[in-house]
Amino acid sequence: STLPRSQSSAALTFELLGKCSTTRARASILTLPHGKVNLPIFMPVATQASLKGLTPEQLEGTGCRLCLNNTYHLGLKPGQEVLDAVGGAHNFQGWNHNLLTDSGGFQMVSLLKLANVTEEGVRFLSPHDGSPMLLTPEHSMSLQNSIGSDIMMQLDDVLVTTHPDKARMREAMERSVRWLDRCIAAHKYPERQNLFCIIQGGLDLEMRRECCREMVARDTPGIAIGGLSGGEAKDDFCKVVVTCTELLPELKPRYVMGIGYPEDLVVSVALGADMFDCVWPTRTARFGNAITKHGVLNMKREMYAADYGPIEDNCGCPCCRPIEEEGALGITRAFIHHNAAKETVAAHLLTLHNVWYQLNLMGKAKEAIIADRFPAFIKEFFAGLYTDKK
Ligand code: GUN
Ligand code: ZN
Repeated sequence: STLPRSQSSAALTFELLGKCSTTRARASILTLPHGKVNLPIFMPVATQASLKGLTPEQLEGTGCRLCLNNTYHLGLKPGQEVLDAVGGAHNFQGWNHNLLTDSGGFQMVSLLKLANVTEEGVRFLSPHDGSPMLLTPEHSMSLQNSIGSDIMMQLDDVLVTTHPDKARMREAMERSVRWLDRCIAAHKYPERQNLFCIIQGGLDLEMRRECCREMVARDTPGIAIGGLSGGEAKDDFCKVVVTCTELLPELKPRYVMGIGYPEDLVVSVALGADMFDCVWPTRTARFGNAITKHGVLNMKREMYAADYGPIEDNCGCPCCRPIEEEGALGITRAFIHHNAAKETVAAHLLTLHNVWYQLNLMGKAKEAIIADRFPAFIKEFFAGLYTDKK
């Protein structure tokens, strides 16, 4: 076969740059309405139209060109009227790069334990005034059209319990297919916004296969694998991802939702996935934790009080980068430690570092895939993780 190969739909182009010869890993370029991004990619989560602690310009400085917003949060505040008046979420947050929005159902079911799912949609009580509300596939699409996200997610029936009964799992999977049809019918701007389907079916591989066949037949520009961020065993996680990627079309992006530990990203890439999101890297930064090639380091620990090195040696992030003038130390671990307990500056700096780390990890995976040395990359990655932290 002659690489690269590409495929376009109305608002997206997927160009395959290379494939690993021994794993299922691929490298590609995804062109979206607000520019190109390299895959595999980690997408940081800016739930409420901002990445906590960073200005849009600082987020841009990490190299991020695609981040998440949440439909449920933006639909409540600032609300659809404001989003329409300002011309969408890109204008609202001063972000001229790509945005992906989750449909809102998952957040309601996981945050508000009181959510109740029927064929119509997800019923819940407003966290503001307790009034009954209903999120339908049509309403989610209307909100995501007002947000103007480059990638919109279908409303899906998500089960948060780890071991639901098989009948309820089947109902959720089949309902997610019916809701995809309703989302496709309600989508007002398919020429400028991409709607992705979400594969459900829990840990039941036969149900996953059936869901893949149904979803793939609907020919959305991209495909997500859902229902996996719930703390399932790694072995189960891997089986589900590989079962799905084996059945998915090669020339469409594959997004595993809610995944963010570096080791899970690397393994998922090996299994043929391209896109990931998670709040963990940014949330853990606010707890004083730095993600490094030797694992997670807690900067609040006393051992860093007189450590005048950067958070991570040879890291190219905006806060570890050495200062040009000779003799200047730049941001030290001692400074982060000093501020970690009481000033938000440490959280800002660690957020910059952690986002950069995750983006860089996927950038290095891409380079390794293209050079067909991805297995060596995985080996080096895990060797680094298990050598002593400092
Ligand atoms: N985020 C993490 N997992 C899921 C999922 O299964 N569905 C949706 N909509 N969002 C998610
Ligand atoms: Zn850094």
